[in-house]
Amino acid sequence: ILFHPFSGVKPDVSLEIMKAGSVLRKAKSRMWRGHRHYKLQDDCKTIAYKSSWAMNSYSTCDVEAVREGHESDVFLSVADEYPPERCFTLVFRGRRGNLDLVAESAEEAQAWIRGMQTLIENLQSMGESEKLDQWISDLFLKADRNKDGRISFKEVRRLLKLMNMDMNEDHASSLFRMADKSQTGFLGSEEFVHFYKMLTQRKEVVELFQEYSSDGQTLSHCDLEEFLREEQLEGDRSQEHALELIQRYEPSDTAKANHTMSIDGFLMYLTSADGSIFNSEDQRLYQDMTQPLKHYFISSSHNTYLLEDQLKGRSSVEGYIQALKRGCRCLEIDCWDGSSGEPVVYHGHTFTSKILFKDVINTVAKYAFKTSEYPVILSIENRCSVEQQKVMAQLLKDILGDMLLRTTIDGKVPSVLPSPEELKGKILVKGKKIGGLESLDADNPVSGEVSDEDDSSELRRDSLTTESLPSDSKVSRCKSKQSLTKELSDLVIYCKNEHFNNFEHARIHGKPYDISSFSESKARKIIKEAAADFAQHNARQITRVYPSGLRTDSSNFCPQDMWNVGCQMVALNFQTAGLEMDLNDGLFSQNNRCGYVLKPEILRNSEQQFNPDKPQDPLIQVISGQQLPKVNNKVGSIVDPFVRVEIYGLPADQATQETSYIENNGLNPCWNETLEFAVHTPELALIRFVVEDYDMATKNDFIGQYTVPFSCIQSGYRHIHLLSKDGTSLRPSSLFVNINITEAS
Ligand SMILES: *[C@@H]1O[C@H](CO)[C@@H](O)[C@H](O)[C@H]1NC(C)=O
Ligand SMILES: *[C@@H]1O[C@H](CO)[C@@H](O)[C@H](O)[C@H]1NC(C)=O
Ligand SMILES: *[C@@H]1O[C@H](CO)[C@@H](O)[C@H](O)[C@H]1NC(C)=O
Repeated sequence: ILFHPFSGVKPDVSLEIMKAGSVLRKAKSRMWRGHRHYKLQDDCKTIAYKSSWAMNSYSTCDVEAVREGHESDVFLSVADEYPPERCFTLVFRGRRGNLDLVAESAEEAQAWIRGMQTLIENLQSMGESEKLDQWISDLFLKADRNKDGRISFKEVRRLLKLMNMDMNEDHASSLFRMADKSQTGFLGSEEFVHFYKMLTQRKEVVELFQEYSSDGQTLSHCDLEEFLREEQLEGDRSQEHALELIQRYEPSDTAKANHTMSIDGFLMYLTSADGSIFNSEDQRLYQDMTQPLKHYFISSSHNTYLLEDQLKGRSSVEGYIQALKRGCRCLEIDCWDGSSGEPVVYHGHTFTSKILFKDVINTVAKYAFKTSEYPVILSIENRCSVEQQKVMAQLLKDILGDMLLRTTIDGKVPSVLPSPEELKGKILVKGKKIGGLESLDADNPVSGEVSDEDDSSELRRDSLTTESLPSDSKVSRCKSKQSLTKELSDLVIYCKNEHFNNFEHARIHGKPYDISSFSESKARKIIKEAAADFAQHNARQITRVYPSGLRTDSSNFCPQDMWNVGCQMVALNFQTAGLEMDLNDGLFSQNNRCGYVLKPEILRNSEQQFNPDKPQDPLIQVISGQQLPKVNNKVGSIVDPFVRVEIYGLPADQATQETSYIENNGLNPCWNETLEFAVHTPELALIRFVVEDYDMATKNDFIGQYTVPFSCIQSGYRHIHLLSKDGTSLRPSSLFVNINITEAS
């Protein structure tokens, strides 16, 4: 094979050991005793293994990370069976389960761990053109059905179907003959690259290139500068910017030396991060991180421990790892008395499985600051006896050590919350507290009574599951008292759960460190009746909103309505993919994915009346799509794609528009349709691009999407790199658009 995705991988002892193959035990449970022979293939892309009935394989490209030792639910549950130095876990992208393996020796485990790390790093460091080569290489291997290293026209026809394109037979045949330079009736790998390039030629990009090229062949750096100024609106950047882009993206060394860009370089630039719709400046940590915590939207998860539904789903430390990796900064931990004196975490009164509180805290300690250094808040739902509350407090102190915030940062009673910057590297406990911070020095009792009203009603409602489904008002009224131990109460510093009476009461009696929780339905009711008061309240203190207890399927509510009035912690079920998580991922994709996004000015000032920025009118020309994935694996089935553009924001800004659909073309559909919007409050808006497969008879199938804060989009000719339903990259699938934003008069 000519183009080899891992041809850049240096020979390596670990990889040689993997290629020789090892007998590894797949750990599943105590009862399971499966030994298998795993072997890395020469292409470094496939790990093959033989099960009792067939040869199977994993693709190394699907592996996101490798963990050493007992770092998974399975290993935690059977920890005593295998020594940690022989254990490792392969973590796959998306929502696919882990693979837990046990080697025969520590050395062998190390070889697999190092080898996998080498492969993962290699994949991460691949440039755009190498990624494209890999895509073509995969296609070639797929097309070459009889594995003779060349492909016939018949194989090409089948490949086109696999690639989501229904091409006119004559056209395909003439391209095939043009590519077949050796005139053998077959395409070798090099000829195949040529065929592929002709097939995927971007007519719209060539036309754009020629429009700006003075000689019709190349873009001089002046041509490129003009393009950047006129179309990309990057004119304020210096002349060096054009030269930089040539250095970065032009593949030909002679053109580079001559400060010119070829069509290949131009396409490379347009499909790169610099050509993306998402302004790379806003992807960095660009916001002021020194404002009080209440001035930020905080990425928050609900029932973090659950991987599935709320009735009989599985609880797992994996939920915490996944949420933290996505930048989540507020985790939920539902604690109940465990049978062996140790608190456990699960969804009370249901058949969800239980995990140890200790394991959850160990996981948090390990993963809290891997994606973001800003503070992590543990929202603790405490349903434990006084004895086990003491165990909880001790575990938090022992395991988290210095990371756990134990006093106010200056030892004084705060008049305002500290900033994410001041709380870097700290873990905060959110929960009930006896008294307030003001009584720090007073003789506090060993334990106290706290009202058992707010979030407990969340749990109580959740537990009423399949029976008659009550409305909010019927259940939450039963008040009672719960005993809270001083040890746990003392760990609550800046995030004290406080019952919400009304805005007036909160304004007069509220403390800066009070947090009130609302169910989505209560929050919606308040928004309907008193949105402005709610927004002002949220400029003074933090509000958390959680999904209705009736969502036993772990579905989500739309977070935008809550962000509109400045609610900081809008807790979503991270385990459930879909529109709501797309919006959450979209909002928090800016500011270096650190989990904190500064609220717009209008939502930070408790005095000011609502006074949004200048309205903007975006014109979005949806030009074309590239290499859209198949949604249906049947060979004959090809997508009929269309694009829908959706704006989320204040009610007046919510809008959707769509293109018409194009029949039978997922490879290079061309729409050329302009959609027009009016956005009055751009600083609160998100824009979502969705591609679907049109279906006249049934529901359209989802193909891919991308969501970005409106204020982070760049004007001009841009690519949008699509994401799958669960948020993983669908490279090389993309949309090509032209964005023109005018200030509304
Ligand atoms: C270098 O650029 C000049 C002017 O733009 C052009 O005339 C010349 O042919 C180029 N040389 C090469 C090797 O591309
Ligand atoms: C779309 O616009 C491009 C550039 O103007 C043009 O080359 C192409 O033919 C158009 N395609 C369709 C399907 O209208
Ligand atoms: C954007 O649209 C406006 C109004 O249609 C037009 O005047 C302007 O030239 C366009 N700008 C660009 C960069 O295409």
